[in-house]
Amino acid sequence: MRLLVTGGAGFIGANFVLATVRDRPDVRVTVLDSLTYAGSRESLAGVDTQIRLVQGDITDADLVGRLVGESDAVVHFAAETHVDNALADPEPFVRSNIVGTFTILEAVRHATASRPVRLHHVSTDEVYGDLELGDPAKFTESTPYNPSSPYSSTKAASDMLVRAWVRSYRLTATLSNCSNNYGPFQHVEKFIPRQITNILTGRRPKLYGTGANVRDWIHVEDHNSAVWKILTHGAVGRTYLIGADGECDNLTVMRTILRLMDRSPDDFDHVTDRAGHDLRYAIDATPLRDELGWRPAHRDFEAGLRDTIDWYRHNRSWWGPIKDAVEAAYQSRGQ
Ligand code: NAD
Ligand code: DAU
Repeated sequence: MRLLVTGGAGFIGANFVLATVRDRPDVRVTVLDSLTYAGSRESLAGVDTQIRLVQGDITDADLVGRLVGESDAVVHFAAETHVDNALADPEPFVRSNIVGTFTILEAVRHATASRPVRLHHVSTDEVYGDLELGDPAKFTESTPYNPSSPYSSTKAASDMLVRAWVRSYRLTATLSNCSNNYGPFQHVEKFIPRQITNILTGRRPKLYGTGANVRDWIHVEDHNSAVWKILTHGAVGRTYLIGADGECDNLTVMRTILRLMDRSPDDFDHVTDRAGHDLRYAIDATPLRDELGWRPAHRDFEAGLRDTIDWYRHNRSWWGPIKDAVEAAYQSRGQ
């Protein structure tokens, strides 16, 4: 299989590429990534002789058309992904997430005229908006879209484009909406790596608001095993929700990190809350489990956090050079 991976130098995409090269010698991987602030060549250093990395933008129709034309399948991870950045400047989110996905879809549509090209579009549970705290309800495939932020609204728009192209042009595409990922190679702007690297650099961790907000954590390797399962066995046109029953409030995650790093439970700062902060996400992944037989391998969140802390401890050269600038940007926003 000739596989094009967009956003393969980002957090989830790089983990996907590393696992693919390790486990699937029959797959030839091309990564298309513009290497924004969130993309890193270093994340792919271990496989750089086994893949092709093309630095380019998913809104570049000629380039995307050429690469899709050479591929049997496309897994589309590339996006602007950080909610706080979207609140500060939504324009790149509209461009990369909406226009970028449109460009991929058009390339797949044109390539499909001569031979089938399978597409998997990677999306987020944030398209469904949020749930109440303490409510037993979870997101399912039929939950109405109700995005709250500039980030989630652009992801929702991209999902709608994919669905319309499946219906109108019979694209062989699937979609997935996953909950919050954690694991190695995640940018230090995100919650878990930010707190770990704050502690490792002598800063105090930062909690938005009271920390009552709940996220449904899944290890990045489990997200990616689900993506492979859907790419190879998913029903065309279907949307699969990916989650591993990992609901936890932010204060508890914070205190677990502090304990695992031998700090006292109150050794953190409360900072300005995020505007429009979604309260709770929770995924019902029953169809993925029952119909496709997928199971998460990482069932112990605390063990996964311990491994993630170890990874950041031992890979300072990967995140150290960007840490000060990320914290300076947060500080300027009171976070
Ligand atoms: P990330 O921000 O770590 O990486 C995004 C990658 O996309 C980067 O390498 C960046 O350089 C690249 N990129 C951005 N705009 C581009 C453009 N215009 N052209 C080419 N490349 C571009 O993101 P991530 O956390 O790895 O997320 C990957 C995908 O998974 C996204 O679509 C995101 O919406 C989705 N997702 C993420 C999570 C999560 O918890 N991180 C959960 C569910 C879904
Ligand atoms: O649910 C999937 C989504 O998860 C993905 O689509 C997004 O791309 C990804 O960034 C993530 O979005 P969140 O906004 O949930 O993740 P983030 O790591 O930014 O924040 C997680 C929670 O922690 C959220 O409730 C805000 C809070 N937070 C975040 C930071 C950076 C803090 O309390 N302190 C912080 O310093």
